[in-house]
Parts: sequence; C-alpha cells; structure tokens
Amino acid sequence: MAASGAPPFRHLLGIAPLETGEIEALLDTADGFVELNRRSDKKLALLRGLTQINLFFESSTRTRTSFELAGKRLGADVVNMSVGVSAIKKGETLIDTAMTLNAMHPDVLVVRHHDSGAVALLARHVRCAVINAGDGSHEHPTQALLDALTIRRRMGRIRDLTIAICGDIAHSRVARSNILLLTRLGAQVRLVAPPTLLPAGMDRQYGVAVFHDMRAGLEGADIVMMLRLQTERMQGSFVPSLREYFHLYGLTWEKLETARSDALIMHPGPMNRGVEIDGVVADDINRSAILDQVEMGVAVRMACLDHLTRHLRAAP
Ligand code: CP
Repeated sequence: MAASGAPPFRHLLGIAPLETGEIEALLDTADGFVELNRRSDKKLALLRGLTQINLFFESSTRTRTSFELAGKRLGADVVNMSVGVSAIKKGETLIDTAMTLNAMHPDVLVVRHHDSGAVALLARHVRCAVINAGDGSHEHPTQALLDALTIRRRMGRIRDLTIAICGDIAHSRVARSNILLLTRLGAQVRLVAPPTLLPAGMDRQYGVAVFHDMRAGLEGADIVMMLRLQTERMQGSFVPSLREYFHLYGLTWEKLETARSDALIMHPGPMNRGVEIDGVVADDINRSAILDQVEMGVAVRMACLDHLTRHLRAAP
C-alpha cells in the first residue's frame, strides 16, 4: 500500500495513491477471508494486541459495522467512538480529537468525515495507520475495493467489462473511487447521469465515456452500478422532482433491456427505492449483487486491516 509518510505510518486514504499490484494483492487477500467468514468459527488472532478505533462523523450502517466485525474477526480490540456523545459536541476540533486519540496509542484509526480531505488532514497528526471510510464527495476506497471483489467473483474478471455507473456522480465518493479502481484494472467505464449531476470534463479527466440518456448508457453493459441520490450534499435543486428523476434515471426492467441479458446490478447502499432503483429490480436474487457487496465489505476491510498492520506484526 502506498505510504503517505515514512514507514511504519502507512495509510489507506484513497484508491489514487495505490499501485495496481497493491489493489490486486488486497483483493486476493480478501478472497481468502470470504471463505473464513462463511465458517462458524470466524476468529483469527492476526491483530491480537492491536487497537482499532472507529471514528465516524457521518452516519453509516454497512461501513461501520463491517469495520467493527473485520477488526474483531482478526482479533483486534475495537473501540467505536460515538461522535454524538464525544467532546466534539463541545467544540473540540478535528485535529485536537485526532491528537487526543493518538495519545492512547491506537494502531489503526478508521475515519468517516463529511468534508473532502478531512481524513488526510487527520492522518498527518497521528502516529498510526488511518483508513478513509469515506470523506465528503472525495473517496471511499474500501467501497471500491469491495465492489471490485464482488465483480471479480461474480464475473470472473474485471478487464474489458463494460461498467455503467449511474446517477448522482457529482456528489459521490463511491463513484470517484470506483472510476479510479475499475479503469486501473482495465474496465471500460461509462458515467450515466443528468448534466446537473455529472461534472464537466470527467470524460477527459478519467478516460471514461459520458451519457445523459439511460438506455444509451446501459447498451451492452455487463455491470450496472446505481448510485444513491445524495440529497444531504445538495445545496439547491439538482433534479426537477424525485418522480421525474425516477422516470428518467431510475433503474427499471424496461431500462435494463438494452444492457446484456445477464448484466449484474449493483448499489453501494443505502438505497432510495423508487428514486434511483425500482425495489423489484434491487431484490432480484439472480441479477442483483447488492447483498454480495455487503458480504464482500467485511472481507475487504479485513484485508485492509491485515495489510496495514503487517509491519507491526513483523517487528521483533
Ligand atoms: N455504502 C456505504 O458506505 O454505506 P454506509 O453509509 O451504510 O456505510
């Protein structure tokens, strides 16, 4: 994993700093953990004696729970800091909070924050590994890794697949991390969104194709990855109405007709049923990989914790 400081302080702040080989190694390690997680005895002692603190400034179901399970299954002592009842509520700054936690000698901090760049800022003030669990609309690296693992296991490969990422691209850290990762691993990525939700120039910046018409964007696609309409990050109106948005960009069987007949349907969750995806499509057990994504999340987060703490375990 690319170091963002002199070893041994290595972080996972985004997909951008990772080498392709490091991404593949993480996916290979996670693959092994999938099998472990399906056993009745899921416990390993790889992280025994190490301390992981989960610090979430934004709400989360999947990411926070899976990081907690991941740490516990690897034998770490896991602490979930509740921002709502912490000194942050009394006005303590992000840096002061980071330095306070750092003084307790954690080995890994898992951080989600509503501001892009906040996790990288925090990482500069601590002497342990920091994992970005989502920062603003910037990156959500472990989501992209679990999406890649889901695709690799379901389709057998990522290279040369046509992957349509659809919806609120503008506010989506999931989209950004997935674009970086999937293009790096050789997929043909398309972005499908209304012009108000798709920043200009992304085609040139990321080497992707851009579509504003859903049926055209899905034509021949192997994977259809839907994104949540992130109304909490919107200032002003980006869509005329939710009903109109669903009519034009909501995933239905009818719009899926132009995709491959076996195209896999993905969504990072949480879903807005009837806004970006029809509930009937989301629940189709043959076509939807949405719950697979949740399962892969635990394995991928175990792999990240494992890789980031190997240097600690190697020490005499
Ligand atoms: N996909 C995702 O990050 O979900 P949560 O907000 O529930 O963690």
